[in-house]
Amino acid sequence: MTPVIQQNVSLRAFNTLALPSTAEYFCSVSEHSQLLQALELARTSALVVTIIGGGSNIVLAGDIPGLVIQIDLRGVSHRYVTAAGNATGDLANAVDVTFAAGENWHQQVLFCLDQGWYGLENLSLIPGTMGAAPIQNIGAYGVELADRLISLQALDRQSGELVCFDRQSCEFGYRDSLFKHAGYDRYIIVDVTLRLSTKPEPNISYPALSAAVEAFCRREGLTSEAITPRLVSNLVCEIRRQKLPDPALLPNAGSFFKNPLLKQPQLNALLAQFEDMPNYPQPDGGAKIPAAWLIEQCGLKGAERGEVGVHDRQALVLINRGQASGAELLALAGEVRQSVEQRFAISLEIEPRIYGVN
Ligand code: EPU
Repeated sequence: MTPVIQQNVSLRAFNTLALPSTAEYFCSVSEHSQLLQALELARTSALVVTIIGGGSNIVLAGDIPGLVIQIDLRGVSHRYVTAAGNATGDLANAVDVTFAAGENWHQQVLFCLDQGWYGLENLSLIPGTMGAAPIQNIGAYGVELADRLISLQALDRQSGELVCFDRQSCEFGYRDSLFKHAGYDRYIIVDVTLRLSTKPEPNISYPALSAAVEAFCRREGLTSEAITPRLVSNLVCEIRRQKLPDPALLPNAGSFFKNPLLKQPQLNALLAQFEDMPNYPQPDGGAKIPAAWLIEQCGLKGAERGEVGVHDRQALVLINRGQASGAELLALAGEVRQSVEQRFAISLEIEPRIYGVN
């Protein structure tokens, strides 16, 4: 079926920050052939193409010229690794699951739990789509996508070919991948294959999660044997609901800034000045600092600036209090960055992608 191209479409419902923005042209594609046709049409009409998924990690700073394509490709398939040969060790429990890019992340985490395929439970309730997940290498509660990704397929807009990337060629880092750099605007992720396990191996190393698990077990009189992936998923959902606003109720894009990674000299200098600064040591001797703490120290947690604000339970989240424009939101982001820079000499990096800046 040919994709339906609409003109002057409001994108407010297509971004979880609910920012007002109009796409000059818009279409949603649910089949690979539709994606190819939409790209061809954009090429022949000389339209710039912008790809969106669930809209949970984008800032629409203004209207979007050209064609906005929303990826709605669907489908899930799986293959038990043992079926392919005489796998031993961890591979004997491995199942490779391939998700089309438009599948909703959290729904698929729950689907996998239902199937008895484990490994995604710590990443429960993250908004967005499967295809967007590798771009920023989503991560939470001690697990990141890169730990599970085996490969992905992407359409190369330069050659028109499908390209397969293994984990290494995705160049994953903390909230980072090739698709934010050399692959930016070049590749359109169409499916993602994750290696899960039929053996439950809950990872509760993240302090906030282990505290929640311990408290739950104490309250219910349970031993550590009772810790199942399903329980971990439920507790992660509970922690997230306590701290992170539901975009449907209070529009936001999750963490607005990356947690900065400091090298040892800067870390030591800051620790000498701010003894209680939380920090997560890194292999290079430096540390990752919670940006939320830096923002809170600047007195900005819960700050309100007209229609925008800093969330009062998690300072890393910027919110649209109702009728904000992208410009207002970016002005608040600028104020936050400037305050942190002045007080700590740390330059915070904005995490979501910004579109529509003239
Ligand atoms: N903290 C504060 N003030 C706050 C919130 C947190 O000082 O308002 C400090 C505390 O010291 C706390 C520490 O920050 O112990 C860490 O807080 P939290 O566990 O909430 O994690 P985070 O570093 O703020 C990161 C991710 C989240 C992810 C959580 C849990 C980034 C940019 N963010 O946040 O990811 O859910 O860890 O693993 O790395 C997202 O990317 O959208 C996202 C929500």
